Amino acid sequence: MTFASRMSRVTVSPTLKVSAEADRLRRTGVDVVDLGAGEPDFPTPEHVKAAAHAALDSNFTKYTPSAGILELRDAVAQRYRMDYGVDVKPEEVIITAGAKQALYNAAMVLYEQGDEVITHGPFWPSIVDQIKLADARPVVVQTHMEDGFAIKAASFIEAMTPRTKAIVINSPCNPTGALMTEAEMALLADAAAARGIWIVLDFTYEKLIYEPVPHNLVKILFERMRDKTVVCNAASKAYAMTGWRCGWAIGPKDMIAQCNVVQGHSTSNINSLTQKAAIAALTGPQDSVTMMLNEYRKRRDAVHGWLTADPRFVCVKPGGAFYLFPRTLQPDDVAFVRELQAELILTVPGVGFGRRGHLRISYCVEDETIERALPGFERVAKRYRK
Ligand SMILES: Cc1ncc(COP(=O)(O)O)c(C=O)c1O
Repeated sequence: MTFASRMSRVTVSPTLKVSAEADRLRRTGVDVVDLGAGEPDFPTPEHVKAAAHAALDSNFTKYTPSAGILELRDAVAQRYRMDYGVDVKPEEVIITAGAKQALYNAAMVLYEQGDEVITHGPFWPSIVDQIKLADARPVVVQTHMEDGFAIKAASFIEAMTPRTKAIVINSPCNPTGALMTEAEMALLADAAAARGIWIVLDFTYEKLIYEPVPHNLVKILFERMRDKTVVCNAASKAYAMTGWRCGWAIGPKDMIAQCNVVQGHSTSNINSLTQKAAIAALTGPQDSVTMMLNEYRKRRDAVHGWLTADPRFVCVKPGGAFYLFPRTLQPDDVAFVRELQAELILTVPGVGFGRRGHLRISYCVEDETIERALPGFERVAKRYRK
């Protein structure tokens, strides 16, 4: 069969592949230890579910405006006012099916053939594949384990050319957990603003930052280049709402209107009940976010602790998100991940994130699951000479 040429440039998301494998094994009755999935194991908070029940009971089940209901766009704007001290208007917000669609809309609206779009590696794969789907060329600047995978402005500035259309920053980063500092973002924003380059900020893990470090990247961007800033985010990770599919993009009014044109011709509005639930999540009590963060911190420390007790597992302690990205004990990360899989432990090979010789471990699983993984890791590690 012949498909459009763009399809030859993209691949299936490696994390979705692992989820499918976990599902397949579970269906055959195998009890896997799934450290591959990138989603909270906590249930969605009760008050959020109650808002969806109430919406259903009141028959809020029809089309809504494609960009999302005003009340929700207002709730997003309000959240950013409270969290980051920035003034956002509802017409600068579009509600999308997760952060993924927010980023995809931005790619469709901003990038085209001949454009270069710079991002940092190791990367969340959809960032790069969406650039390719928009017919542009991804330029990946590498971050390094030796300095905690720090996201540095200088590497982007060096990679800029007259063809550079945009820069995509993911902070906290999936898979490394690294945060971009405010100082680095200020340097990058000044350089991008001077050249008319867009910055797309993937802020999906913004609420999952373990130490109280300043991370107001939104304000820094808005102060320097508001007319070329897009912030993409979602309720998915912060509120344990991955399946509900609620994200948003915040950008200049005209750009958001263009996103709405793309969305209006593809998916239209996200699920109406989800929109009501998301309002409850954004405007309601935030203590569940703190509770989950505290749990993830404990798990991060536990897994990082037992992993690095074997000094051969070189691994940065991440500042955010819920992943560890250690070096594998052999250069072939796919083979190493297969060895773990034979022990019924599912992880994702680094190659899927553009970095061989690493693997990604999600620690958003119950303590008991973490404990079950340890013996399998030890058995695999024993096969390698010290
Ligand atoms: C860095 C990053 N951006 C965006 C997304 C997409 O999130 P959503 O489920 O809200 O579409 C993910 C999901 O794993 C992610 O890791």
